[in-house]
Amino acid sequence: MNVLVIGSGGREHALVWKLAQSPRVTRLWCAPGNAGIAAEQLAANQSPVRCAAIPADNLHALLALAEDNQIDLTVVGPDNPLALGIVDLFQEHGLRIWGPNRRAAQFESSKAFSQHFMEKHGIPTARSKVFSDAGPAKKFAAELCGICAVKADGLALGKGVLLCHSLEEAGLAIDEMLVGQKFGVAGSRIVIQELLEGMEISLHALCDGRTTRLFPTAQDHKRIGEHDTGPNTGGMGAYSPTPFLSPRELGQVSTAILDPWCEGCREEGIDFRGVLYPGVMLTRDGPKVLEFNARFGDPEAQVYLMGLETDLLDLLEACLDGGLRKREPRFRDVAVCVVMASAGYPGHVGKGQIIHGLEEAARLPDIKIFHAGTARDGNNIITAGGRVLGVTALGGTLAEACDRAYLAVSKIQFDGAQFRSDIAAKALGRAEE
Ligand code: AMP
Ligand code: GLY
Repeated sequence: MNVLVIGSGGREHALVWKLAQSPRVTRLWCAPGNAGIAAEQLAANQSPVRCAAIPADNLHALLALAEDNQIDLTVVGPDNPLALGIVDLFQEHGLRIWGPNRRAAQFESSKAFSQHFMEKHGIPTARSKVFSDAGPAKKFAAELCGICAVKADGLALGKGVLLCHSLEEAGLAIDEMLVGQKFGVAGSRIVIQELLEGMEISLHALCDGRTTRLFPTAQDHKRIGEHDTGPNTGGMGAYSPTPFLSPRELGQVSTAILDPWCEGCREEGIDFRGVLYPGVMLTRDGPKVLEFNARFGDPEAQVYLMGLETDLLDLLEACLDGGLRKREPRFRDVAVCVVMASAGYPGHVGKGQIIHGLEEAARLPDIKIFHAGTARDGNNIITAGGRVLGVTALGGTLAEACDRAYLAVSKIQFDGAQFRSDIAAKALGRAEE
C-alpha cells in the first residue's frame, strides 16, 4: 500500500516510523518531512521513506503528489491543512485521507464553535463567553475579577491564549486581540474563559464517526522553563500514561466528555473521523475541557506511538471504514519524550547548528530519537527550527523511562540546545508520595 504522511515535525516522524513498521505499507512518502523521516525505511521491503519538499498547507501540490504516485492513503499530521479543508479536497478527487473534514476540524479551528458545542451538549468546560467587541468582553472579564483566559477564536500557532490574573492584564489582552488585532482575523473573535486550577492532562480518542477509542492519559509540558515557568511553547516533553486518573476515573471522564461529544456530533451531522485531542483540567469540581484539538498532540504522539503495539495502519483505516468498534489500541510500558530545542525558542531561533551524538544516543536500548526541526547538510544533521528533537524512551516504570530518555539526551549536543530536566517530575513526585 502507498501511504503519504503530511507534516514535518516530531509527531509526523513518529507517524512515519510507526507506519513504516506495518507489513502492509510498501511505499511511504512524507511532505515535507525532515532529516530523521528521510532516514527511515520500511519493514516490508527496506525501501527508504521519500520526502517531497511540499509545504503542509499547499493543498493543490499535495493533491498532485498523491495522484501522481498512486497514494492509497494520506495521513494528515498538523492542524492547518485540516482547517483549510485538505480532507474535503482529497475526497472530492476520490482519494482516501485520514483526518477530520473541514467542518469537523472546526473543533480546533474555532474555539467559539467548540465552546458553543460544549455548552449546547452538556460537556463540562470552563465558564465562558464569546465576543467580537471589547466593551462587553471587558465587562465579562470584570465579572471574573480579571482572572481569565483570553483566547483568539482561530488558529494562532499555539500562541493565541493569554492567561490573565488581574483586570488590567485582561483589559490589555482583550485590546491586543480585538483592537490591536495581534492575531489578525484569528483574533477578531475571542473566547474568554474563567481560569481553572488543577492538573492539566491530554486525552486522545480515535473516532470513526460513531465509535471512540480512548488512549491512556498523557501530559505535555507547555512552558519553556522548569517548574512550568516562562512563555508557552508547542510542548517541551510528554509522558504516558499519567498516574492522575485510575482506569475507573478515566472511564468516568470518557462518559462525561466523549459520550456527549459523540452524541452531539451525531445530532448535528458532524462526521468526525480522525483523532480528537481534548486538553482537560482536572479541577476540584471534576474534569473540564479547556479546548479541543482535531489531530494528534506533539509531543504526545511521540509517546503514544512509541508504546503502541497495535498496527497503526489498521487503526487509521478503521477510523475511515467505521470499524473502530472491533479494534482496541494496545500500549505497552511507559513512554517519556524530552524535547530538545534551539536557543531562543519559543522566540526567534537560528538554524544550521551541527547536532552531535545522535548515533551514540540511538544505540541505547528502548530509545527512539524523533526529529522535528532538522535538515541534512552533507554528512551532518543540522538544526532547522525551534523544536529540534524529541528524545523518546520506553521503560517498565516511569522512573526507568525517564532515566533512559535523559541518558540519551546527555549524549546529544548542539550549540544553544535547551531542554527541560523536569519532564514527568509531577508524576514521579506522585509516585513517591
Ligand atoms: P489552549 O490552547 O486553549 O489549550 O490553551 C493553552 C494553554 O493555556 C493550556 O494548555 C492551559 O495550560 C492554559 N489554559 C487555557 N485555558 C485555560 C483556562 N480556562 N484555565 C487555566 N488555564 C488555561
Ligand atoms: N501538545 C500540544 C499540542 O500539540 O498542541
